Amino acid sequence: MGELSDFCLSVPLGERSYSLHIGNGLLSSGRAGGIIAGHARGGKVCIVTHPGLLRSYASPLASSLSEMGIEAAIVTVPAGERSKNLSAVARLYREFILFGLDRKGLVVSVGGGVVGDMAGFAAATYLRGIRFVQVPTTLLAQVDASVGGKTGVDLPEGKNLVGAFHQPSAVIIDPATLMTLPLRELRSGLSEVIKYGIIYDKAFLSSVVTLLPALMRRDEAALTTVIARSCEIKAEVVGQDETEQGLRAILNFGHTVGHALESVTAYRRFKHGEAIAIGMVTACLVGEVLGVTPTSVRGELCEALERAHLPQSFPLDIEADLILAAAQRDKKTEAGRLQFILARQIGEVFLSRNVPPEAVRAAIERHKGLADG
Ligand SMILES: NC(=O)c1ccc[n+]([C@@H]2O[C@H](COP(=O)([O-])OP(=O)(O)OC[C@H]3O[C@@H](n4cnc5c(N)ncnc54)[C@H](O)[C@@H]3O)[C@@H](O)[C@H]2O)c1
Repeated sequence: MGELSDFCLSVPLGERSYSLHIGNGLLSSGRAGGIIAGHARGGKVCIVTHPGLLRSYASPLASSLSEMGIEAAIVTVPAGERSKNLSAVARLYREFILFGLDRKGLVVSVGGGVVGDMAGFAAATYLRGIRFVQVPTTLLAQVDASVGGKTGVDLPEGKNLVGAFHQPSAVIIDPATLMTLPLRELRSGLSEVIKYGIIYDKAFLSSVVTLLPALMRRDEAALTTVIARSCEIKAEVVGQDETEQGLRAILNFGHTVGHALESVTAYRRFKHGEAIAIGMVTACLVGEVLGVTPTSVRGELCEALERAHLPQSFPLDIEADLILAAAQRDKKTEAGRLQFILARQIGEVFLSRNVPPEAVRAAIERHKGLADG
């Protein structure tokens, strides 16, 4: 396959607008370094990454910045959701100070959503906020977590309970990084890609289903196509509702139950996208119980999930009451009222702000019954 050219999408947020640069080989060719150099504006650059991503991605990026005369340092944080916490962020602040990162400095995250959320939050709060650039290296982060400016960390009491909206100055997406991503992580990202089809674009869902074999083979053209359309959808939604006063909530389709599943299993059993896959099926069933979602939506969703080898059965060992309690603790719950994104049809969803717990319990029992066959 010939060279694919880079392209740019814009997240339209007035003075906080920024570009998503998408291109195969952006990192290995040094083009990413060039983009970051443009944003460094003569200041120091601190790259935040995981130890496992140093050799392939973070160190070459730091070297290319040094060659351009930019003072760059790398700080590592342990991989895994369990390290996305306030003490890891406190360590980042201290590393920033030791390195002499001042208000002109730039933080660059290299990694998945965990590094991006954590480094973004550190950048949002260090010296009352400095600029940062996201270099997402998981599919999930490339299509979702790196775009839109949500940053934060988890508390023992729940996920993402401390955070800030802090838009990056740029996002650099290199699909070639996905060649080293474990297959389970790739599939986890496909869950969010499927979500975009369900919530926003029926034709996109059909093309994702067709492209799934190529995506799982990591065909670069197929990956670039779906990453670009997913980012375009997220940028359109965020551009209209930066701080989630309304429309942006549609991105949470599957997340009420998905986040609860992650929380009650202590973030160990499911990848984020796996929990969202199951949560999307439950959300369809909630809509069916309430009479707003036709069963055909669940049919199309489950077909896509199956082809992506993503889970769809509700774990039989997890009680509905446990999920309801966890969902009630979620930061999106207002005054104890459960919020769900429900589907009217593929490509058309809406926020329901007060879903009765009995409807959720009934949907989960139905979901478990499906697993029983
Ligand atoms: N801010 C947002 O809008 C938003 C949206 C969705 C999810 N999130 C957050 O994102 C997080 C999940 O992100 P994730 O799924 O990217 O997981 P992750 O960041 O934990 O990364 C998964 C694993 O893949 C490894 N990895 C990353 N890139 C790699 C590569 N190219 N090759 C080999 N290994 C690689 C990582 O080191 C890690 O072990 C959650 O904390 C979730 O809350 C945030």
